[in-house]
Amino acid sequence: MTSERDFVLHSWCVPAEWNAPTVVGGRGAMLLLEDGREILDMSSLVECSNLGHQHPGLIAAIREQAQRLSFVTSAWGAQPRKALAERLLELSGFEGGLVFFTLGGADANENAVRIARQASGKGRGLVVTRDRSYHGASYMDMALSGDVRTAHQVDADAWGVRHVPPPYSYRCPFGSNSPHQCGQRAAAAAADCIDAEGAARVAAVLMESNAGSNGIVAPDSFWPMLRDVTRDRGVLLIADEVMSAFGRCGEWFAWQRHGEQGRPDIMTLAKGLTGAAVPLGAVVISAAIARRIEKEMFYGGLTYCGHPLSCAAGLAALDAYRDEKLIERSRRLGAQMFQDLQKLAKRHQVIGEVRGGHGLFAVVELVADPATRAPLAPWPGQSDPQRALLRAALDEGVSFGSRGNLLIIAPPLVIEESDLAAALALLDRLLGRFFPASSTEQKP
Ligand SMILES: Cc1ncc(COP(=O)(O)O)c(C=O)c1O
Repeated sequence: MTSERDFVLHSWCVPAEWNAPTVVGGRGAMLLLEDGREILDMSSLVECSNLGHQHPGLIAAIREQAQRLSFVTSAWGAQPRKALAERLLELSGFEGGLVFFTLGGADANENAVRIARQASGKGRGLVVTRDRSYHGASYMDMALSGDVRTAHQVDADAWGVRHVPPPYSYRCPFGSNSPHQCGQRAAAAAADCIDAEGAARVAAVLMESNAGSNGIVAPDSFWPMLRDVTRDRGVLLIADEVMSAFGRCGEWFAWQRHGEQGRPDIMTLAKGLTGAAVPLGAVVISAAIARRIEKEMFYGGLTYCGHPLSCAAGLAALDAYRDEKLIERSRRLGAQMFQDLQKLAKRHQVIGEVRGGHGLFAVVELVADPATRAPLAPWPGQSDPQRALLRAALDEGVSFGSRGNLLIIAPPLVIEESDLAAALALLDRLLGRFFPASSTEQKP
């Protein structure tokens, strides 16, 4: 019997070790496998299927658009493209701005940087980003990302990128004694970096406003202070909302938790923008930036930018989030999920920290010793018991997302409450099975 790995080079894997299940269908938070089993998706695949799988509204919109007009070049007009841009600007309060559509998150971030450099008149101006961030896997994005998995493949300096330490309060790189202080010190580090380089040479700061796929959740003090720091220095702030938008962090866009005080100059979107039914990304730019570039040639765009099928799906996705009240639902279920995970942390010593609490997104960091916070495996490695836990969960019909020592709990926003509770109960049981020494004792 042949396997898909005989023909396909899959992403982010050792080709010879690939043995993932084959999915043939889905419904809500459930995925249907080729062998007939159903799997509960506790990660929205890669934190993108916010609307669950095979959402009927998305399917109908794609079908209808395909019958009318499947494709037109992005240089010409397309009705769903105009409508989606208008809706996004209205929803985010960026009226008067513009939307540049891309194929996904990586090219959204690249184009956001290009637009920021052009609008700021700083040519190849520097971009400040964070260590342990993830902005995509193209060359520019490998430079932008602070990711040890890909950093060696690219010369970030040559791309004009400077990295600063992240607001990772559990292991605060600044030795802070509270999350609040860690957030402030991380924002101050960005300020110091801009000052050291000279603000006139820095075009933008690009960061995840709340949470990212790297598993760091910024303390509340971080983003508003970063906004002040960048504004004071005349540096544009780009929010990478690729993962955190569309209800994932309990808001349409995660920066909105800080109100107007948190508004970036540019934000990048992808993933939940179409509920992942078809590929689409977007760069949303403020009215001020739109005015600055409106009389200049923009040398950017790919063949499929703003594809009508994707834009039609985007419109249907926005309807679904609104009509099914999924942003509010994510906020409510996310708060409960966070509490339940904190209860697990009290029972299992292997849980060093649970972070999140805003929407259906939480990170469970596993440690060898909660007192010293020694990691279970050096980042970004993964210990054998953790791998065994993930495999056992899949055998019992639940797929948990994981990177390094982290479990990323990010189910579709439509997940049934009983399924969510059952998945957390399974996690409780499996933590006890694979990390028995650490369980049931009271933690220090
Ligand atoms: C925060 C963030 N930015 C950018 C990206 C890249 O998006 P894409 O994979 O669509 O290129 C990701 C993907 O995981 C992400 O989580």
